Amino acid sequence: MDALRWPTYKTRSIVLDRPLESTTRGSAYVVDTEGRTYLDCVGGIGCAPLGHGDPRWVEAISTQLSKVAAAANSYQTAPQRAFAAALLERMPIADARVFLCSTGTESTEAAIKLAVKATGRDIILSFERAFHGRSLGALALTANPAYRQPYVRCLEEDGAADAFAQMKVARVPFGDLEAARELCERYRGRIAAVFLEPIQGEAGIFPATKEFLLGLRALCDSHGALLGIDEIQSGCGRTGHFTAWETIVGDAAEPDIIWMAKALGGGFPVAACIARTQIAQAMQPGTHGTTFGGNPVACAAGLATLTIIEQDGLMSKAAAQRGILEEIAATDPLPVPFEIRGVGAMLGVGLGAPEDKIAAPLGSRMPELGVLVTVCGGHTVRSLLPFFAGREELTKFWSTLKQALEA
Ligand SMILES: Cc1ncc(COP(=O)(O)O)c(C=O)c1O
Repeated sequence: MDALRWPTYKTRSIVLDRPLESTTRGSAYVVDTEGRTYLDCVGGIGCAPLGHGDPRWVEAISTQLSKVAAAANSYQTAPQRAFAAALLERMPIADARVFLCSTGTESTEAAIKLAVKATGRDIILSFERAFHGRSLGALALTANPAYRQPYVRCLEEDGAADAFAQMKVARVPFGDLEAARELCERYRGRIAAVFLEPIQGEAGIFPATKEFLLGLRALCDSHGALLGIDEIQSGCGRTGHFTAWETIVGDAAEPDIIWMAKALGGGFPVAACIARTQIAQAMQPGTHGTTFGGNPVACAAGLATLTIIEQDGLMSKAAAQRGILEEIAATDPLPVPFEIRGVGAMLGVGLGAPEDKIAAPLGSRMPELGVLVTVCGGHTVRSLLPFFAGREELTKFWSTLKQALEA
């Protein structure tokens, strides 16, 4: 692959091929072209809530493939209608509309454009360690210098010179409500929105507190700004509710915009940006669009995913994962200092201090031992198992992590 692709990824030698088995539901295990089996704690980085090869999901996609596989957004299709309705029904925003697209970054981009257009303001407040995607707009919100540095001359940040994107971002530490309040005061009348992940994923799995989210809601209300929640990694049931916002905040308040991707298509590229109807009305024909958004096959995949999550009670199974991992860890601790972070099936095991760099080699050592994982934040081994995964899979994850640390 290295001879074929841009060198944007560190390619592993494993060539993934098929699920281990998929009889009545998907599999948490994948087999490579050499016949080796792996527990998949990556799932395309959170894109496989049903595991691999769920026959109901495959059937839904296959059926739609033999019907209409492509349709312009100016035409309607039954899968798009059904998926949009099912999605809005599940959202914690009472009266909302959806913009359908294909990737997480695209859904962030839609949220940015909507916030700027709906408010007529120019600054978005983002947070340290934030990850919202890699298009120039989404990258303006993303914090990691490694992702930003080559393009920073195109991204305007407060106090920096800018040549291209007219987007302005102000950034404060995640969890620091007082700093957010100060910035809103400093830029009074200019903050279009406050955008954040309710659980910072790429940074190393750091959940926001209820007080912080509610504090931001009140801050936005008092400054006429929109509150936007990036549920790309945390959404679709992974934390036990359809959104992590609900898991953390309950029904105490609603955000204005929520966007999600990854798990939403069950492995198919499906993303969505959902906004309060009154805000969504700011967009008119021509103000935004994308060819593949709402594609009928993608919508069939999305609808099947939502249906199966509900039918199989997968949200409560996902919710149980953290507790199970804690129990396993308590009886079988790791040989290094560790911290389990996250909610439900969005889990991270922080290993040692960041400067110890204990986690980095595990991204290749664990796959050699039969468990696929990613390392996030440079210090945290992440598990994004299928929602149905339980004690068996989490025990394998944990014992392999321990074995890899001892190797
Ligand atoms: C919270 C969050 N936002 C945005 C993105 C970008 O999504 P995509 O890679 O689908 O463009 C990701 C991907 O990891 C993410 O976790």
